[in-house]
Amino acid sequence: MSLILVHREEPIAVVQLNRPEALNALSPALIQELVAALQSLDRDENIRAIVLTGSDKAFAAGADIKEMATLTAKEMQEKDLIGAWDGIWKIQKPLIAAVSGFAFGGGCEIALMCDMIVASETAKFGQLEINLGIIPGAGGTQRLTHAIGKWKAMEWILTGNIYSAAEAFQSGMVNKIAPISEYLNEAKALAKKIAEKSPIALAAAKKAILASLNLPLDEGLKKERQLFYQLFDSEDQKEGMKAFLEKRKPEFTGR
Ligand code: CAA
Repeated sequence: MSLILVHREEPIAVVQLNRPEALNALSPALIQELVAALQSLDRDENIRAIVLTGSDKAFAAGADIKEMATLTAKEMQEKDLIGAWDGIWKIQKPLIAAVSGFAFGGGCEIALMCDMIVASETAKFGQLEINLGIIPGAGGTQRLTHAIGKWKAMEWILTGNIYSAAEAFQSGMVNKIAPISEYLNEAKALAKKIAEKSPIALAAAKKAILASLNLPLDEGLKKERQLFYQLFDSEDQKEGMKAFLEKRKPEFTGR
């Protein structure tokens, strides 16, 4: 059975982690399928935004502990199990995590790689690696710190505590909380709203915002201006501004 299910609801797609017997533990095989599915949707002109979800019980309970438990540092480096995860971060289309149940360790880190997080009231987040004698290895020390600040990130990562959806929301890493019956619909509604915009402008906005994580302010501002000016060669910019002046809804084609 496939470890990943893809549900197309054009112009959006829902990608679902599908390893229920292991609470969606992120084995190398699952990550490989996930990245391949996301890359294929990223190339697909009929898809404009992607929702990434798990089950009501578990978004993902982390990297697969069984696959790593006996490995040495040398073997970990040679296998570079986490290297493949970077494919998720490189997706250019808007990626929304719809999280319910456990989002622990690598599960929390995958949610943090997404552009927005919609959580069910029952979602539980945590970087539990410290309890296993390790640290987050798929971006948690960096992306969580960017998301919730140094002091809270220290608490999360050094204690290995579990945080409710409400606590994650208050910390600023969750965009919206919904009842368990609605979190996926809320994430899809958000994706559909975004999917109405120009795909080229969306990609430029995502690129510019993510650049702010890497660049000093002056460099980031330069990058933003460059992307802003470039959009004036797109048909979507012409259509967007023409539609405004003609008092109608724009029809963006992604060109
Ligand atoms: N890896 C491998 N298998 C896992 C797993 C994981 N991360 N999480 C759960 N499973 C498996 C369990 O081994 C169990 O399988 P068996 O029935 O074959 O024993 C099955 O999923 C169900 O799990 P539990 O019986 O433990 O379910 P529970 O409801 O009692 O507890 C839980 C749920 C609290 C999430 C608990 O499973 C748990 O603590 N999981 C580990 C969470 C964790 O530590 N994650 C961090 C992993 S390391 C990491 O992610 C590194 C990184 O930065 C990339």
